[in-house]
Amino acid sequence: MTSSDQFYRNINIRIDLASIRHNLRCAKALAPASKIMAVVKADAYGHGMTQVLPALHDADGFAVATVEEAMALRRGGENKPVLVFQGFRTLDQLYFCAEAKLWPVIHDQHQLELISSNTLKDLSCWVKFDTGMGRTGFQVQGADSVYRRLQAAAVKVVGVMSHFACADMVEDISNDRQLREFNSIKWPDPVALSMANSAAILSRTDVQLDWVRPGVMLYGASPFKHSDAESLGLQPAMRVTAPVIAIRDLKRGQRIGYGGRYQCDRAMKVAVVGAGYGDGYPRAIPDDTSVILGNQRCTVIGCISMDSMIVDISSLAVPPPIDYPVTLWGHGQLRVDEIARRVNTISYELLCGIRGQRQWIDAPSEVNVRKIDKDLSTN
Ligand SMILES: Cc1ncc(COP(=O)(O)O)c(C=O)c1O
Repeated sequence: MTSSDQFYRNINIRIDLASIRHNLRCAKALAPASKIMAVVKADAYGHGMTQVLPALHDADGFAVATVEEAMALRRGGENKPVLVFQGFRTLDQLYFCAEAKLWPVIHDQHQLELISSNTLKDLSCWVKFDTGMGRTGFQVQGADSVYRRLQAAAVKVVGVMSHFACADMVEDISNDRQLREFNSIKWPDPVALSMANSAAILSRTDVQLDWVRPGVMLYGASPFKHSDAESLGLQPAMRVTAPVIAIRDLKRGQRIGYGGRYQCDRAMKVAVVGAGYGDGYPRAIPDDTSVILGNQRCTVIGCISMDSMIVDISSLAVPPPIDYPVTLWGHGQLRVDEIARRVNTISYELLCGIRGQRQWIDAPSEVNVRKIDKDLSTN
């Protein structure tokens, strides 16, 4: 499967569906008594929302941010429950939610007003409470009034949910505080409960409840700053490569790239690689960030340009030929978590932001790695 639906540039993005399937099994093993709501918003964190669905076949439902994303799932024939985190903003969206049997999240008075002033048949929803995230959700103390308004409109409440602000900071006391606040909600009818994102699934056993909502772990990245995906048993699903477009010999003292940030301290051989911040590779990358050529780490030097970057290849026995694929991250050799840390961000941002020609592969990931590396060594 390939796609040129993304703005076409040099970058090649291989997405390994077998890894996503493996990561889903990990989530299931960690929360065996819970149902799984696979989070596929933001184009499945850059992995292709509709294309990854076959790998998420064993999920019990899906979660997206917007009604538009939910529409795309339904139009693609997806019949499982779809939770819409932001719920609806407009009347049209509200009617679509009811018609398409989505589960919009009700988190704001405006939504209650739209529901109360319109006649609706068969709307099922979740209600979200703000237990400490400070983003969306009703105050816990207002649960009774929300309940009464939804009951008066004959809306079926399937579940009650909240979201951790600091689940990735395992020791943070706000996690227990949020859980206590959540447990204090008095909802008169029996409903499903949900709190846990990836970090909570991976770090605690007391927050799994009826539904868990794994996102980033499904794509094989770590939600934690100090543990990498591999140590958590996850397999990175995305491998990003870009081609060598020129090989240069530079003299000692020569400056490299915009602003002349890097100056050669010796004669150097460099490869110009055809990818840059226009493709979503971060401009803030510092000198000595790794890329992989064959099986060897080489380092980026100088400022990242819009569509190119410079890599020091002086340590390679043989320079790579033009078009040789340079791995920017992926498949264990060089994790996206490592690159994210270099620019003080999270893997989520890099995965969502990278653009290029995407290709979905459904084979055990070790086979893919071997295949790519073989391609490289015979180039
Ligand atoms: C409400 C909600 N639940 C679950 C998730 C999944 O989080 P993660 O990708 O950290 O597992 C998100 C993602 O931002 C979210 O907004």
